[in-house]
Amino acid sequence: MQTATTIAETRRIVRDARVAGKIVGCVPTMGALHAGHVSLIEAARRECDFVVVTIFVNPTQFAPHEDLEKYPRPFKNDLEKCEAAGADLVFHPSVDEMYPVERQVNLHVGDLASRWEGTSRPDHFDGVATVVLKLFNITLPDKAFFGAKDFQQQAIIRCLCRDLDVPVEIVTCPTVREESGLAMSSRNVYLSDTERETALAISRALTNARDRFQNPQSTVAEVRQQLRQDLEAVDGLELDYATVVEPVELTESDDEQPEMVALVAARVGKTRLIDNMLLHSSEQGS
Ligand code: PAJ
Repeated sequence: MQTATTIAETRRIVRDARVAGKIVGCVPTMGALHAGHVSLIEAARRECDFVVVTIFVNPTQFAPHEDLEKYPRPFKNDLEKCEAAGADLVFHPSVDEMYPVERQVNLHVGDLASRWEGTSRPDHFDGVATVVLKLFNITLPDKAFFGAKDFQQQAIIRCLCRDLDVPVEIVTCPTVREESGLAMSSRNVYLSDTERETALAISRALTNARDRFQNPQSTVAEVRQQLRQDLEAVDGLELDYATVVEPVELTESDDEQPEMVALVAARVGKTRLIDNMLLHSSEQGS
């Protein structure tokens, strides 16, 4: 496995792979890798000939009060995980390499970025879209792999490629969970044992929503309301939002649709957690 810290070196290495006729896959990450990230690298390994993992804690997607400084950076461990999962190249630039001058051009995402996560993180997705486009321009992948865990993020990246004709196929991989049901997240390390226990209410409520959605007698509005009530009743959990939306624009449609997604964000102690689950009507199977 190779590593590179500069854009020029990364371009050189990827160009050689492309010249050799290899299909290039990119897995953008902020490091602190866990089994969720590893599943993306493994998917890229299966589907591509040359796998680039990027590790960059992107400052422009953090608000001033967020955890940029304290975000975990276990770099040596991350490299070992990349190698074990079959990455060919890890690109891990410095902030100066990615942002050497004050930018005149930034991406701005429309309405899709202002709902749900956007309500409490207003500029977050502009930062994500801009850095992901930069990473695509640096690594020129054929395919890029994102987790369903950050459902709104993958929806926005799909729109980015659609609206700006970015020739990258977006692959969304399923959320990897701990045995308890808790969705894996680099931020789970902030949780105490009690908080971890409280956080389990989220995946439990989502699973209940999935089961209710399969019941032909319950309406979308009822499933949405019950999800909210389930989570509002949990001690030690401060609900940010809980909803059921259609899976492309993420709007709260009450129309019966074969596939929808339940989205949740909540604070447990000082840690903000997000999770979601795809809901299929009974005719679709699960
Ligand atoms: P990060 O939070 O490190 O996540 C990198 C990728 O791993 C994202 O696509 C995310 O959805 C996926 N992921 C995280 N937890 C997962 C889980 N439990 N199961 C499956 N996939 C999971 O998301 C970012 O970084 C950044 O916003 C980034 C896209 C790199 C831009 O800076």
